[in-house]
Amino acid sequence: MITKESINASFKDIFHQDAQVTVKSPGRINIIGEHTDYNNGFVLPAAIDKYIYVALNERNDDQLHLFSADYKEHYQTVLNTIDSNAPDWAKYIIGVAQLIHKTTDKVKGFNLYLEGDVPLGAGLSSSAALSCATGFGINELFGCELSRIAIAQIGQQTEHEYIGLKCGIMDQFASVLGKENHAIKLDCKLLTFEYVSLDWSEYEIILLNTNVKHNLASTAYNDRRNSCEQGVKWVKEQYPAVESLRDITLAQLDAIVKPKDEDVYTKCRFIVQENQRLHDAVEAFKNKDMVELGQLLFKAHWALSKEYEVSCPELDFLVSQAENNEFVVGARMMGGGFGGCTINLIKKGNTESFINTLSPAYKEKFNLELTPIKVKISNGTSMLL
Ligand code: GLA
Repeated sequence: MITKESINASFKDIFHQDAQVTVKSPGRINIIGEHTDYNNGFVLPAAIDKYIYVALNERNDDQLHLFSADYKEHYQTVLNTIDSNAPDWAKYIIGVAQLIHKTTDKVKGFNLYLEGDVPLGAGLSSSAALSCATGFGINELFGCELSRIAIAQIGQQTEHEYIGLKCGIMDQFASVLGKENHAIKLDCKLLTFEYVSLDWSEYEIILLNTNVKHNLASTAYNDRRNSCEQGVKWVKEQYPAVESLRDITLAQLDAIVKPKDEDVYTKCRFIVQENQRLHDAVEAFKNKDMVELGQLLFKAHWALSKEYEVSCPELDFLVSQAENNEFVVGARMMGGGFGGCTINLIKKGNTESFINTLSPAYKEKFNLELTPIKVKISNGTSMLL
């Protein structure tokens, strides 16, 4: 188990000094609302009890000395330099430090130790957890007085500018603002949000990791974003007040985008319908109608797969199997896609039998292990005291 004591002991081993600040920041799940965040839409994520931990102390110079326990790797640089050959884990830390320095002029050199138990490449946002843990830690160490939302935004900007993934704000927001037993219904345009209770007595959430690792930056993630922006541009030519897909109706897409480009049309229509599914899902939560919620998850999956085209055969297989199991009320791929996990909503007491039948079938078909991940819905970024 990772504790403040174990982190600080490792920090001392590496840097021969005591850590001054130790932080943990969680990964996330998302109930519904996929690829809607960078379209100014709505998402419904929740923070989970898997974390990235960082420990830091201040140096007397402008150097950054970094150590990742997962990669057993040191990296050293100076605050105002970025080397494009730096490992990605270090780029996140350097990016966050430089961007915070740019807005506050308060950051100096530091040592940072990093460790975590968010599975990597599983669509649980380990990188957002890393950016947010780092941002929170630097904010605390140098008294930068940034708000939680500003820390999330810096994490998102780091992903854009240092990694090249034009992601939305969902992952970072969920990491810093998560709340135990609640999902966050987030309006990604206004950054206003409401907590939705996930306290169900009869159901549980289980994640199934396909163990197909993805690297969103090298996938079609940015292409999807470009298609959506192209659709908005075309509609805007006739309706100048339109800013994003949330302002656009299906009728406008039919009239303006469909005749120009069928593929762009299908991608844009997916986003408009996914936002509607999210609102319907929140209604279903309020009415405690889990069957309706589950149906929305299945619908979302097949739309992500067939229309938005961000699934893969392994994810599709797991969702088909879930559809055939009477105790699974809903399932879908989760996160950016192209691999990672499915999220499954199951009647309590039936998870084990579901996994016991599914695992061998999955292994036989794809020659891959299926890893179930049980998660608790948890609070956002915090200091380890
Ligand atoms: C990744 C991105 C998020 C979001 C999801 C898809 O996790 O980082 O911003 O776009 O994909 O919903």
